[in-house]
Amino acid sequence: MCGIVGAIGYDETTEILLKGLERLEYRGYDSAGLYVNDQTGHDYLVKTVGKIAALRAAVDQQVNGQLGIAHTRWATHGQPSEANAHPQFSTSQRFYLVHNGVISNFTELKQQYLPTTDFVSQTDTEVLVQLVAKFVEQEQLSTLAALQKTLQLVNGSYALILVDRQQPDRLYVAKNKSPLLIGLGQQGNLVTSDALATYDLTDQYLELHDQEIAIVTAEQVQLMNLQGVSQVREAITINVTAGEVSKGAYPTFMLKEIDEQPAVMRRISQEYLTTSGQPQIEPKLLQTLAQADRLYFVAAGTSYHASLVGKRLFEKYTQIPAEVGVASEFGYHWPILSQQPVFIFLSQSGETADSRQVLIEAKRRHLPTLVITNVANSTLARESDYSLVLHAGPEIAVASTKAYTAQIAVEAVLAKALGEYLAIPAALAWDLQMQLSLAANGMATLVDDKQGWADLAANFLGASQDAFYLGRGIDYDVSLEAALKLKEISYVHTEGFAAGELKHGTIALIEQDVPVITFITERTTASHTRGNVQEVLARGAQVLVIASEACQQATDQIVLPELTPELMPLLTGVCGQLLAYYATLQRGLNVDQPRNLAKSVTVE
Ligand code: F6R
Repeated sequence: MCGIVGAIGYDETTEILLKGLERLEYRGYDSAGLYVNDQTGHDYLVKTVGKIAALRAAVDQQVNGQLGIAHTRWATHGQPSEANAHPQFSTSQRFYLVHNGVISNFTELKQQYLPTTDFVSQTDTEVLVQLVAKFVEQEQLSTLAALQKTLQLVNGSYALILVDRQQPDRLYVAKNKSPLLIGLGQQGNLVTSDALATYDLTDQYLELHDQEIAIVTAEQVQLMNLQGVSQVREAITINVTAGEVSKGAYPTFMLKEIDEQPAVMRRISQEYLTTSGQPQIEPKLLQTLAQADRLYFVAAGTSYHASLVGKRLFEKYTQIPAEVGVASEFGYHWPILSQQPVFIFLSQSGETADSRQVLIEAKRRHLPTLVITNVANSTLARESDYSLVLHAGPEIAVASTKAYTAQIAVEAVLAKALGEYLAIPAALAWDLQMQLSLAANGMATLVDDKQGWADLAANFLGASQDAFYLGRGIDYDVSLEAALKLKEISYVHTEGFAAGELKHGTIALIEQDVPVITFITERTTASHTRGNVQEVLARGAQVLVIASEACQQATDQIVLPELTPELMPLLTGVCGQLLAYYATLQRGLNVDQPRNLAKSVTVE
C-alpha cells in the first residue's frame, strides 16, 4: 500500500524515481509526487492526482538533481488530491517527507505539539514533517535528533524518507511495521518499499528493522535504532529479473499472470519434489508440524480462500485438524487454542499488516509459525520461524491469480510431506507429481481458449450488475474466490454461496436473467448441487455449470479433467479468473488496477 522510492548520488534521479513509481503503481494509484534537489540550491516538487502517467506528464525537463524522493499513494487519511499527495512538507518548506503507513495518534499529536500550525493536507503524514520542523526550528535540535524525537512520539506504522533542504547530501530513512529496503548501488544509494522499483540498479539491499533509522548518502549508509545506537547488518541479495516485471507482449499483467499458471505448477514440482516425486521439505519444519495437535491457518482475501483449501488438504492427508481464520478478525478475537498449535500464514506479498499482527502475537506466545509467501525476503518471511516460497514470480496485477493456485500447490506439497512423515496411508498413496502435471495441462487447455472465455463472459455476465457463484465443499471454497475475483475488478456485485444455503435466504435475490455460475466437481454432493441449479433455473436465472468429468451432464458448458478433489480449485479457480478478466475487459475497466485497491495491504 503506497510505494516509496528514494535515490541519492545518481545523475538520472527523476527518471529513476518515475520508473520506480511505475513499477510500484500496483501498490497505490490515486495520486503521486516527487521532490528532487540538485544540491546546488535548486529543487522541485511535483504532485498530481491520478496515475503515475499524470506525474510523468507534469514533470518537465528541468526537474532533476542528485537527491530525490517519490511516492505513489493509496489514500488512507484524506481524499486523493494534490494537497494530500506526498511528499508532504513543513510550513517552512525546509523538510520534505514521503510516508507509507498510518500514524494512529496524529490528531493527538497535532493538538498537543502543533496547536497553531496551519496544516495544508488532511493526511496523518503531515504531522511527521511538521513535528520534525518544529523540533529543529523551535527547539534547535539536529534533524536526526528531531526525527528520533518525533518517532518516539508516534504510534502506528511507517516507512518514510525525510529530506532536509539544508542537508541535500543525505536521506533520512525510518521504518516501523511497513516494509523498507536500502539498495546499495554502483553510483549511489536507493531506498524503496519493494525491490521491484530498483531491480535494474542493484540486487544488494540492507533491510531496515522496525524502529530503526538510517542516514543514507551517496557513499554510505549509517544504521541505528531510535535511540541512536549504531546497528550492523549484512546486505542481502534480492534478484528480480526484467522479464518478471514487464508485460512483454501481453495487454495486461493479469492476463500474463493467468497464463503463467501452468509454468508455475511445473516450477513448484521442480522446486519441491524430487525427480521421483518425493517432497523435499526441511526436516525441522516437518518435526514441528508433526507435533501439532491443530493447525491454525491465518490469512486475508484470496490467501484466506487458499487457506480454506489448505484445511481440506491437511485434514485429509495428515489427519491433523485445522482451522482457518480471517487475519483481521483473528487478531482481535483469538479463539481458545489447542495444546500444541502451529500457525500457518498464507500471504502472497508477505507484508499484509492484518496477518502480521497475528504473527507477532503468536510469536509473543512462543507458538511455532510458518509463512507461505511469494516474496522470499518479505516481512512475514523474515519474522516467522519457517517460510516456504511460492516460486510464482512477481505478481503485479492487483487481483491475485497465480499466487492463489501456487499457494494451493505448495500447501499440497507440504500436506503430502507431512502426511508421509506421519505415515498416513492417503499421503503415501498420493501421486502429487502426477496431479500437479495434470493440473498444469488442464490449466494450459483453459488458458488457451481465450475466445471461448470471452464469449462465455459476454453471454453470461453481459451487462449484469449482480452475479452468484455456487458450490458445495471444495467448490464452495472456490466460489468465494471466484466471486471475489469478479467483484474486485469488474465491480459487479457478486456473492459466493454454499449451494445448500441458497434456499435459506439468498434465493430471494434470484430473478430473471441473474447469472449463477455453479461449480460441480464433488461426486458426493453433485446431485444436491444439481437440485440447487434447478431451483435457480425455475426462477429465471441464467446458469453456467462448470463440472468435472465425473460429475458432468450433457448441458454443462465447461467440463474439467478430473484431479484429486482437493486440487480441483487449481482448475475451477482459473475458470473464475478468466470469467472475471473478460467481464472486466468488456466493461472497459482497468483490469490490473481496480479502483480503491492496492496490492500490498500494509495497514490494519
Ligand atoms: C485479491 C487479493 C487480496 C489479497 C489480500 C491478502 O485478489 O489479492 O484479497 O489476497 O489482500 O494479501 P496477501 O496475500 O499479500 O497477504
